[in-house]
Amino acid sequence: MARTEKTRIEKARPQRPGTAGARAGKGPHPPPGAEPARYARPARLLHWVMAVFVVGLIPAGLIMANMDSGPLQDRLFVLHESFGALVLVLALVRLGYRLRHPPPPLPPEVPAWQRRAAGAVHALIYAALIAMPLTGWAGTHAFGAPVTIFWLFDLPAFIGKDEALAGRLFSLHLALGLALGGLVVLHAGAALGHRFLRRDTVLARMWPP
Ligand code: HEM
Ligand code: HEM
Repeated sequence: MARTEKTRIEKARPQRPGTAGARAGKGPHPPPGAEPARYARPARLLHWVMAVFVVGLIPAGLIMANMDSGPLQDRLFVLHESFGALVLVLALVRLGYRLRHPPPPLPPEVPAWQRRAAGAVHALIYAALIAMPLTGWAGTHAFGAPVTIFWLFDLPAFIGKDEALAGRLFSLHLALGLALGGLVVLHAGAALGHRFLRRDTVLARMWPP
């Protein structure tokens, strides 16, 4: 390889945080032509659509469960249950897609403990994204109410009416919702910390949608 060409390639390598380039405010981002490895477009779109739904569903669920009953609460129930069921479908689509398209490698400077922590948090988030809709769906039918999707059709009941069980399922739904909220704060905080404190390319793997 010609010496000038090698030098050009070396210059094009991403710089680690704390190097002269990063300190000069240029950041460690790869220059044009050396884009960071990103999640594929469908994975990014699914991530951000699910993120918006989940960030809305948690406070909406808390408000809806604690307000006076009436037509407004009924409408909020239908919207909450419909978007919640959509999250279940999207999470399953995302997991199926992930089997065939594994995530791109993390930047080499990310330490092993952070890789393990990120993997554990992602797995727990996926578990909650599946358990939340299932406990909500089962709890609603155990309570004796239908689960109506966008005023179009009802989901089938896989559980009979049992009000004591409904109470337990909704307690679980609440506990999982609070746990999911905590995980998302941790997760988003870590992603933003990578972007604005460490100034590496972790967030650029998932952004833009
Ligand atoms: C401001 C909010 C958020 C930011 C900045 C953010 C950022 C990111 C980034 C950068 C990744 C890739 C991390 C990596 O590969 O190591 C990621 C992955 C992930 N995010 Fe988020 N996220 C946010 C909100 C959410 C929310 C609300 C959810 C819950 C639905 C979520 C669920 C996930 C999951 C499950 C993954 C793993 C993807 C996979 O590898 O299959 N994120 N996020
Ligand atoms: C990822 C999806 C979901 C999230 C994040 C979520 C979150 C929440 C939260 C935080 C609450 C407040 C709990 C309380 O204060 O007791 C709630 C309540 C509720 N959710 Fe969900 N939910 C989801 C999906 C669903 C689904 C799919 C259904 C039904 C098919 C459902 C049915 C309900 C019902 C009926 C309540 C009111 C429970 C009560 O009155 O105590 N949710 N949800």
